[in-house]
Amino acid sequence: MDAQKLKDNFAQVGSNGIVVAEYFYADLFAREPQLRSMFPGAMSKQHEVLLGALSQIVSTVDDTDTLVPFLQDLGRRHHGFGVAAEHYGPVGASLLATLAYFSGPDWNEDLERDWAAAYGVVAQVMTEAAAEPVA
Ligand code: HEM
Repeated sequence: MDAQKLKDNFAQVGSNGIVVAEYFYADLFAREPQLRSMFPGAMSKQHEVLLGALSQIVSTVDDTDTLVPFLQDLGRRHHGFGVAAEHYGPVGASLLATLAYFSGPDWNEDLERDWAAAYGVVAQVMTEAAAEPVA
């Protein structure tokens, strides 16, 4: 996985601002309409926190000591929101679709593979933490 390429790509995508999060949730709720009711009616706060968390994850993608505890906390909180392991698949698909859309002609197979690998680790750490009893 090329961490710098992920960082550069996310900086490019993120420069579009909040529309990135709007696109992501529109894609997710079109894919899996039953997930809509898990989220608040008004989504503007959620748009911001999602982008903030993604930014934090990408900036520490090559710093395991910082990233893992962050993801474990996030995973435990998601357990409290009713998020289960099977929800991570559609969220990953929407994330990749969003990154591809905003990358435009710069999207390529290397980026797709690296993002899929990074998201796989994120989902794994979050779901494993959610499954562990709180110490
Ligand atoms: C890369 C993976 C994910 C990231 C970075 C992420 C990020 C966030 C953040 C930052 C929050 C705000 C609350 C908090 O920080 O605890 C949140 C809330 C939430 N997330 Fe996620 N999330 C991810 C995966 C998922 C998945 C797979 C689902 C399943 C549908 C999901 C559903 C929710 C729900 C339902 C809330 C609470 C909304 C509310 O009631 O305010 N998230 N997420």
